Amino acid sequence: MEYRSILNSDVKVSNICLGTMTFGSSPHGVVTYQCPSQSDEDKAHSILNRFAELGGNYIDTADRYSFGNAESILGKWLGKQSREKFVIASKVGLPSDPNHPLEAGLSRRRITECIDRSLERLRTNYLDIYQMHLWSKETPIEESLLAMNDLVRCGKVKSIGSSNLCGWQLQKIVDVCHFMGLSKLATLQQQYNLLCRHSELEVFPVCEKEGISILPWSPLKGGYLTGKFKRGANVSSDGSRVGFVARNESRALESTPAWSKMSGNDSYWKLIDLMRNIAENHDKTIAQVAIRWLLQKDVTSVVIGATSVSQLESNVGAATGWALTESEMSELNEESTITVAYPYKRLL
Ligand SMILES: NC(=O)c1ccc[n+]([C@@H]2O[C@H](COP(=O)([O-])OP(=O)(O)OC[C@H]3O[C@@H](n4cnc5c(N)ncnc54)[C@H](OP(=O)(O)O)[C@@H]3O)[C@@H](O)[C@H]2O)c1
Repeated sequence: MEYRSILNSDVKVSNICLGTMTFGSSPHGVVTYQCPSQSDEDKAHSILNRFAELGGNYIDTADRYSFGNAESILGKWLGKQSREKFVIASKVGLPSDPNHPLEAGLSRRRITECIDRSLERLRTNYLDIYQMHLWSKETPIEESLLAMNDLVRCGKVKSIGSSNLCGWQLQKIVDVCHFMGLSKLATLQQQYNLLCRHSELEVFPVCEKEGISILPWSPLKGGYLTGKFKRGANVSSDGSRVGFVARNESRALESTPAWSKMSGNDSYWKLIDLMRNIAENHDKTIAQVAIRWLLQKDVTSVVIGATSVSQLESNVGAATGWALTESEMSELNEESTITVAYPYKRLL
């Protein structure tokens, strides 16, 4: 892997970050936590071991993933490593206990409680990056940012990040931090892939202007950008997340849409055909092309998900030693282009 700096810092992270949303399971919550391809502790630890062997030093989790189980599984592994060799990021803000109305949001009360529980599960006394998982409609952003800043001041958190924002929200966070003299936002985790590019319009220009590291999540659109699904196929008995969502369509996710929505979508299949041609030119896989396209954009580290060691090894093959040509990048940009209306049209 290669290493890139979190902007305006000396913290160097592998250009592939291992996401842990697929660790553990839970009967509650979003559909992915019940997917048969979720990793139990042994499999998750094999994936983590291999990631570290391959040079990975950046791991992403959240209190939300499998309702704390993902953090606990990661913590059991982390407890046996040299903590200082890894950059560990977690998140707060999404509901983390389906039976508890207070277990959601970004109030001072919640942030100060959740950090301690995350640290305990992760068996560490600090997080490198603590991220607000989303924008809270209820808590004023000033309250959340003051609480996050206090965590930096007392050493529980080295830097703060955010996720899933639109342009005005990100700029507001930047401005509040600036005018209140708080710790700057270091990172933004955003869904970004060849099927989801709207953040390029307003959000990423803020990142560029303000020196915020972009961390794309769901680079393979939950599996849709791997080429493993065929046009006209019946995927509903598949053990994959896409297959699982096909059986539970009403609970499809923004990041893993329903099969019925994708299977008849001509532009999706045209994109896959193009990716297959490009992959063959380089003797690479379609998934590697998807991740490589992101790495050649202005991003710091791509947050991947893998449900087996072989998926991990294959995806890490996007990290270094080859590149898409300028004309391949242009073809991919063209085929994945987004249509937008006024006034956003003027931004393209
Ligand atoms: N900030 C946020 O709100 C947010 C939201 C979502 C995710 N994230 C972060 O981003 C990470 C990655 O998200 P994601 O899991 O949705 O990423 P993704 O890369 O879009 O999808 C990963 C899934 O695709 C399949 N896959 C991966 N590599 C493959 C390969 N080489 N060949 C065939 N199939 C392959 C696997 O599922 P199957 O084996 O089941 O097919 C895997 O679980 C998460 O773990 C989390 O850390 C953050």
